[in-house]
Amino acid sequence: MSTTPDILLDVRDVQLSFGSVRALKGVDLHLRRGEITALVGDNGAGKSTIVRCMSGVHRQDSGEIVFDGAPIDFRSPEDARLAGIETVHQNLALVEDLTVWQNLFLNREITRGVGPVALLDRKAMRRQAQEMVSTLAVNVPAVDSRVRRLSGGQRQAVAICRAAGFSSKLVIMDEPTAALGVQETARVEELITKLRADGHAVLVISHDFAQVMRLSDQVWVMRGGRCVAGRRTAETTGEEIVALITGAKES
Ligand SMILES: Nc1ncnc2c1ncn2[C@@H]1O[C@H](COP(=O)(O)OP(=O)(O)O)[C@@H](O)[C@H]1O
Ligand SMILES: [Mg+2]
Repeated sequence: MSTTPDILLDVRDVQLSFGSVRALKGVDLHLRRGEITALVGDNGAGKSTIVRCMSGVHRQDSGEIVFDGAPIDFRSPEDARLAGIETVHQNLALVEDLTVWQNLFLNREITRGVGPVALLDRKAMRRQAQEMVSTLAVNVPAVDSRVRRLSGGQRQAVAICRAAGFSSKLVIMDEPTAALGVQETARVEELITKLRADGHAVLVISHDFAQVMRLSDQVWVMRGGRCVAGRRTAETTGEEIVALITGAKES
């Protein structure tokens, strides 16, 4: 399996405990290049924890995660980002009082000059932000708008745009549409599909089975700190996924 070239990320027997809580009891799953992969499971199943192991927030106690051919050894989310793994967190981590372009370049500002006299290159950042937004055909009013004026869907779009815009190989999203209405959800789903078309692998945690069936190529089911089943989306049904989540059906 490790030599299969279309596998971008391979999680092998990953275990992690928080004190006496065994959050991950040996997780095995993999993501393919050019695919949208869904991760589903009840609250407390370990979804966010395994994702945080991929994105440099946690380090597993045992097992390994192979990304793009090499075992990862991230000391921080910044390390994961540099390796090409971007995460859109549930709270989005946008700064309300800054503009869209300022948020897109937060912590990766473009500067002119060197050393102590380096200046922020606002013009370059605004121009690039405009390009990023129009490339993804995001429905955002203007890169000069302050984030506090944007709707939930527009904020999600900005966060996705930021994750996709810096040549990332994998974009991870934890419940990207949980707080959105029907129309905004449809727009965000379009964006996720666009990411795949642009060559990103995408991992989506979702509780919305209809969305999982619409969007994903592959589904992994977690229960009680383990990945209990994996299915090609085209070969399963929402009913089977629910049964696997609750344990009514074993894999
Ligand atoms: N930082 C933490 N400290 C202690 N326990 C945690 C921590 N993060 C998660 N857990 C526990 O690990 C288990 C898995 O949680 P989580 O990954 O958040 O599940 P999910 O995202 O599937 O709802 C739960 O029992 C949760 O309480
Ligand atoms: Mg979670």
